Amino acid sequence: MSRILVVCLGNICRSPTAEVVLRDIAAEAGLSVEVDSAGTGDWHIGAPPYGPAVEVAAGQGYDLSPLRARQVRAADFDDFDLILAMDASNMADLRRIAPQGARAELRLYLGSGDVPDPYFTRDFDGALALIEDGARDVVDYLRQKVSAV
Ligand code: 4NP
Repeated sequence: MSRILVVCLGNICRSPTAEVVLRDIAAEAGLSVEVDSAGTGDWHIGAPPYGPAVEVAAGQGYDLSPLRARQVRAADFDDFDLILAMDASNMADLRRIAPQGARAELRLYLGSGDVPDPYFTRDFDGALALIEDGARDVVDYLRQKVSAV
């Protein structure tokens, strides 16, 4: 069982979407994973995902409605095996706050490249499509890691 944390800035658009998409796509692929999400920022703690993100995800069969935003915490770096940042700025923030000697591997969700923030671009369909493609790549990455052991 791999424990994976997906991280963006607000935890109301990209990372909640990726939490649900990755959980679904990994389950379809028969991988045993636990997925959570968090934001580097504190503005939306306790808030549900952003309406347009919820609607676009629902259109493709993903239910974001039970989720509530939380902020990344130091313990996450030991509680999770893999922390996936949605963009390079999130990655820089994670590197800055990671406790010394933390266990979790840090990686970009797309391997290389960013998922642009739809809160600012307003392209919620494009973000979801990128997040679905990225989830398939994450599944491949996890499979490679398991077979490399
Ligand atoms: P997210 O998008 O990082 O994909 O959740 C954002 C949502 C809200 C804000 C920033 C990013 N904000 O500054 O309020």
